[in-house]
Amino acid sequence: MWSGFPLFPEQASTMAGRVDALYLALLALGAFFSVLIACLVVGFAIKFRRRSPGEVGTPIHGNLTLEAVWTGVPLVIVTVIFLWGAEIFFSMARIPPQAMDIYVVGKRWMWKAQHLSGQREINELHVPVGVPVKLTLTSEDVIHSFYVPAFRIKKDAVPGRYATMWFQATKPGRYHLFCAEYCGTKHSGMIGWVTVMEPAAFQTWLTGGGTGSLAAEGGKIFQSLGCVTCHRADAQGRGPRLEGLFGRTVALASGEQVVADADYVRESIVTPAAKVVAGYQPVMPTYQGLVSEEGLMQLMAYIQSLQEPAGREAAPAAASSPAGAGGRAGARQP
Ligand code: CUA
Repeated sequence: MWSGFPLFPEQASTMAGRVDALYLALLALGAFFSVLIACLVVGFAIKFRRRSPGEVGTPIHGNLTLEAVWTGVPLVIVTVIFLWGAEIFFSMARIPPQAMDIYVVGKRWMWKAQHLSGQREINELHVPVGVPVKLTLTSEDVIHSFYVPAFRIKKDAVPGRYATMWFQATKPGRYHLFCAEYCGTKHSGMIGWVTVMEPAAFQTWLTGGGTGSLAAEGGKIFQSLGCVTCHRADAQGRGPRLEGLFGRTVALASGEQVVADADYVRESIVTPAAKVVAGYQPVMPTYQGLVSEEGLMQLMAYIQSLQEPAGREAAPAAASSPAGAGGRAGARQP
């Protein structure tokens, strides 16, 4: 609606028009009241000017109507602004469940993205047009901020935790990607491009990578770090089974309950003693520093891909089946 407005970046996501409409409404309101107040100041200065050297003004002792108006009108205006802003905020915060997953790690001074299919890219992000995309963000060192002006989205990538954001691109093209948080010497060089492609072209691009799927890569880490010796699919290991874990509610030794989301899984790998599962001993060593943030995201995708086998005893090898994991990851693509 405002795409021709000068000084504004291109509108290339479903959120862009909504954000701009609110922003322009705020500008218009601000402009209206600035002009109104300026005119009143000048007008009153002329109308109520002193007409003779001895003139004394008439004192005024309150005016209920005037006070009600200057309280009521701003109240209505700020309430409307709040509700309008909150509505946009919530639609930014609520991620559509069918959104396509992409993992992004910020690092001085680059953005690294991993697709579930295994495609990886640096300072580039390829996405299909018309499909909701969910980004899971973290940082390997300091706080960065993932900012795509054309999509009107920005989110901090904070070390030690996951942040999520989503967007749906509305037209193919190349859009600037920035780091919007000062992160050191080459902060200004921490830039890249988001390439929005037609779905068919995106599928072709997606299959161009040589590596295995994200979950399969995670499976390799799971094997090489020996996680599999304790987290056995047959439940005979020293650690809890991980099949069907993701998204489930877990009972902890402390008596609390926690939902096994990305942050929980990450914490359980780097700080295992923080939340010990009921019925298990705090024997797991920390893997902090042994797995990169990208590796953690691969492990996450792997654990997410571990489904409860139909016949539990029948599939003891399920934990080491990259084929099954890849199939699931592939099924999540649009
Ligand atoms: Cu990363 Cu600024």
